[in-house]
Amino acid sequence: MNPLRPAARAAAVPPSATAALDAQAKALVAEGVDVVNLTSGEPAFPTVGPAAHAAEQAIAEDFTRYTPAAGVPALRTAISAHLNRHGTTYEAAQVVVTAGAKQALHHAFTALLDPGDEVLVPAPYWVSYPHLIALAGGTLVPVRPAPGAGLKVTPEQVREAITDRTRILLLNSPANPSGVVYSRHELAALAEVAVERDLVVISDEICDHWVFGDARFASVAALGAGIAARTVTIGGVSKTFAMTGWRIGWLAAPAELASTVTALQSHTASAPSSIAQRAALGALTADLGAELERRRSALDTRRLATVKAIADIPGLRVDGNPEGAFFLLADVSGLYGKTRAGRTITSAADFAELLLAEAQVAVVPGADFAAPDHVRISYTVPPEQLDEALERLARFVNGLS
Ligand SMILES: Cc1ncc(COP(=O)(O)O)c(C=O)c1O
Repeated sequence: MNPLRPAARAAAVPPSATAALDAQAKALVAEGVDVVNLTSGEPAFPTVGPAAHAAEQAIAEDFTRYTPAAGVPALRTAISAHLNRHGTTYEAAQVVVTAGAKQALHHAFTALLDPGDEVLVPAPYWVSYPHLIALAGGTLVPVRPAPGAGLKVTPEQVREAITDRTRILLLNSPANPSGVVYSRHELAALAEVAVERDLVVISDEICDHWVFGDARFASVAALGAGIAARTVTIGGVSKTFAMTGWRIGWLAAPAELASTVTALQSHTASAPSSIAQRAALGALTADLGAELERRRSALDTRRLATVKAIADIPGLRVDGNPEGAFFLLADVSGLYGKTRAGRTITSAADFAELLLAEAQVAVVPGADFAAPDHVRISYTVPPEQLDEALERLARFVNGLS
């Protein structure tokens, strides 16, 4: 028997589909192929200046040792202030700094789930949720929006999905992959179900900064003391400050859960990188309002151009109202049966493969997001690349027979 055979729990975890496609597109670029990559999960802006400066200073000062397991106190204070601008009342002691929001989610599921416990997750959902939940012994139960409901679920749909094993309702607004933003009112109605049925809410608010048009971000834990007492807020610096590689995220929760997570982290990671923590502190305490607003406005222009271009391509349809994050879902089922280069499109995966091969545009097929008839388009690339990609997309679809 293979001595290195993976344990069942590891064997069940495939590599991330988005990372795989991103890698495939980058490999083609490295070979000199002119690919426009619309698969990326990060804003195409440089890391904000004060973060890099603070990291350099941390190294110069030899701030390079283990920090407290829950993170540097000044950073925990800065994170609580950052969160509380949305109306929450977090204290520094309720914040645990982690190596990215992804690790915060991993800790939260590990801290809360017993084998067989169920997590309700509105679909479509981010690719990592099923694996993070399964690794912690839980079961993801999708809650599917009704057709034509703008990819949003209702309190009634959540209520219907609850069983005596349900522990957690996972919310993610602005949402990856759809870009959909739930209003304060809609979140309050979902939160009410959680209170009524004694569920924990994990609210993944990693894209809180990226909200456009008339949409407004609302933090679940700001909706009242009852919901705050059962909510775990997840966030980080990755998306807001273009710091995906620094790996700093956080979890904010009632103190009891924050302590449980701190204990888990102390044995699995000791603490996040001391240098990256100082970088995050630099970003959170600098006056970056104008710069972040410029970036938001630039991304909004790209969003509107993408939505319009897709609406103008017969056979493609933007699903839901992408008012946040930097993605949208395009329904490609209107093109099923069409052919190109001797191949017939029968799925979103066929569409994505043919688009990459024939037009050198990379998008992510939605199967792993529980959106089998869609592709996810990330519109963060610089405008000239985006325009080129959208033209290629239109030519490709119009050239199908
Ligand atoms: C919805 C969602 N949650 C969490 C994360 C993880 O972010 P981080 O870089 O902080 O680990 C991502 C990153 O793609 C995401 O899209």
